[in-house]
Amino acid sequence: MAKDSLTIIDNRTGKEYELPIENGAIRTAQLRQIKVSDDDFGMMGYDPALLNTASCQSKVTFIDGDKGILRYRGYDIAELAENSSYLETAYLIVKGELPDEERFAVWKHNITMHTMVHENIKKFMDGFRYDAHPMGMLMGTIGAMSTFYPDAKDVEDLQSRRLQTRRLIGKLPTLAAFAYRHLRGLPFVYPNNDLTYTGNFLAMLFKMAGKYEPNPVIERALDVLFILHADHEQNCSTNAVRAVGSSRVDPYSAVAAGIGALYGPLHGGANEAVVRMLSKIGSVKNVPKAIESFKSGEERLMGFGHRVYKSYDPRGKIIKKMAYEVFEITGKNELIDIALELERIALQDDYFVSRRLYPNVDFYTGIIYQAIGFPTTMFPVLFAIPRTAGWLAQWAEMVRDPEQKITRPRQLYIGEEPRSYVPLADRPEPEEREDRVAEDI
Ligand code: CMC
Repeated sequence: MAKDSLTIIDNRTGKEYELPIENGAIRTAQLRQIKVSDDDFGMMGYDPALLNTASCQSKVTFIDGDKGILRYRGYDIAELAENSSYLETAYLIVKGELPDEERFAVWKHNITMHTMVHENIKKFMDGFRYDAHPMGMLMGTIGAMSTFYPDAKDVEDLQSRRLQTRRLIGKLPTLAAFAYRHLRGLPFVYPNNDLTYTGNFLAMLFKMAGKYEPNPVIERALDVLFILHADHEQNCSTNAVRAVGSSRVDPYSAVAAGIGALYGPLHGGANEAVVRMLSKIGSVKNVPKAIESFKSGEERLMGFGHRVYKSYDPRGKIIKKMAYEVFEITGKNELIDIALELERIALQDDYFVSRRLYPNVDFYTGIIYQAIGFPTTMFPVLFAIPRTAGWLAQWAEMVRDPEQKITRPRQLYIGEEPRSYVPLADRPEPEEREDRVAEDI
């Protein structure tokens, strides 16, 4: 009869080991019993970039990369994008269930009560250089917020965790809008709690001297984009939040680390990179040449490929459709024609097909953001706002998980054997030296 276990034979010793399989995985710590001698440290798994290592158990998000499935707490992303709002989805992600009317009203009230920031945070943000990247401003300011809320250190306390979660979800749009206004040299606009989450965000961004009424299509489009970005299981930034949070530091510091990870061009910075790439290609006629440079490895086709999705990214489909709804209001962003041509050619080209590279969430988001009027540097910020719900849900799950400890991976040491210190005066001349001072460091 089939057994839920894995038998390993160590050919060095001839010994046989039986490891239990739970949820389709073995616990790699159990490999440690595989030794050649008593003083052997034991077998480890070597997995650079954690390609095949589950670092936690999670109930938040499910992805099937081969089938292009993404679900938050069991609900399909397309259904949520169609019917839910960002704040409701954030509740679902953080609390685990969709709210009833009363709970939703309390949640909305609690988030809205935290949209204001301390006046010193405003001054702090004013101190950034006139051309500071808004994502750098956001990262620095969220990190600084840990000093404004010393109560956040009590990460074991449920009430404190709930309060910081509400504060962070409430304040992110305010900080993001302040970063944008700083970039533009405009006065900061305070939150207006009569508006929706995204309506208020748009007002804090774009309100000038007169009255500002957010366009409902843009407001809804942004809300849907926020739903699509709210969580994505153990990606680079979530892993950063969990790893940094595992030291039991406060959630502002952990989320600042997540924002740092998201800033990179291979993660949340990709939408910015896509628009730069499309602008550089410049016209549909240049697409075939550009495709050749992506295939030669000179550059990457930004917005294509994904570590997990190997058929299509379900978020990309929804966003591509939404682009046209936004263009009805803003006018067409000409870059969409270049993007469509890139997608058309790439999806027929063996290089991309054989590597299972498809458009990801970032391929079309930048084009929409640009049409709404955001500068490219704001794009990763627009990713960070909604992802805060996911980061905090995952952080709370990690803090509550009795199996989790401080994250501390192992390494395979491949450096020098022990050697004795040589005083500076006795070291050989460079041309006589046998040791290698790495030239790429
Ligand atoms: N353009 C051209 N070639 C690519 C691309 C690309 N965008 N992505 C992967 N490849 C090639 C890569 O060169 C490699 O080829 P080979 O086997 O010949 O060496 C093969 O495909 C596998 O690539 P990989 O780098 O091992 O794949 P990965 O899983 O480590 O990388 C990725 C995933 C998203 C970092 C990568 O596909 C990439 O750099 N894409 C462009 C950046 C981007 O759009 N990032 C946004 C990701 S989605 C939003 C988010 O979650 O942050």
